[in-house]
Amino acid sequence: MSLASDARFWDRISRKYARGAIADQAGYQRTLEQTRALLRSGDKVLELGCGTGTTALKLAGDVQDYLATDVSAGTIAIAEEKRAAGPVRGLAFRTATAEELMPDAPFNAVLGFNYLHLVRDLPGTLRCIHALLATDGVFVSKTPCVGDMNPLIRLAIPAMRALGFAPYAGVFRAAELRQQIGAAGFDILASENHATKGNDNRPFIVARKRG
Ligand SMILES: C[S@@+](CC[C@H](N)C(=O)[O-])C[C@H]1O[C@@H](n2cnc3c(N)ncnc32)[C@H](O)[C@@H]1O
Repeated sequence: MSLASDARFWDRISRKYARGAIADQAGYQRTLEQTRALLRSGDKVLELGCGTGTTALKLAGDVQDYLATDVSAGTIAIAEEKRAAGPVRGLAFRTATAEELMPDAPFNAVLGFNYLHLVRDLPGTLRCIHALLATDGVFVSKTPCVGDMNPLIRLAIPAMRALGFAPYAGVFRAAELRQQIGAAGFDILASENHATKGNDNRPFIVARKRG
């Protein structure tokens, strides 16, 4: 299994993923508003693992430039179709991973929603995000912390992967994720639960680049 096989997995399910409804609309709206509040009109923003572009299409109009990226060409193709229906100034979609984006740096903000648990080298990706940001830039993440979830989910992931029903997924707790973000050179400014019912173990984390 490799990054290429992850990309193929997401290519394969991209149409189904695009049709899926957001499970907690109010929680999603809260995340959108909190993210919007961190962005300024002159900002250059990078979104990693943007999927079919739902969030990018909502946020891009608030900033100067918004580059929305994903490892899966299939999801980016759907994002492009959605954009064609209602063009947004300053928004670009591209098939890419964080590691390929250094020529486009620096960014004022890097966003990753439901993304960090899918990267194979979490410390390396976090260091890369740090390098992609301008001084004082912010990194915003909201991603499943599988280590805090029901142990049955943790047990099911390897079986699902073996059967081709799941991509690579890292298992970490929210506290471990915050520790890793700090170790990559960030100060954690906020860590919030945006779920409307209970805790969905997807902390909304805002971190500022240190130094
Ligand atoms: C669960 S979807 C989330 C999509 C979108 N951010 C959202 O919240 O709806 C995860 C996305 O991350 C992408 N992805 C997985 N691993 C990645 C990697 N290493 N680099 C970039 N994108 C990746 C997948 O192709 C997929 O589109």
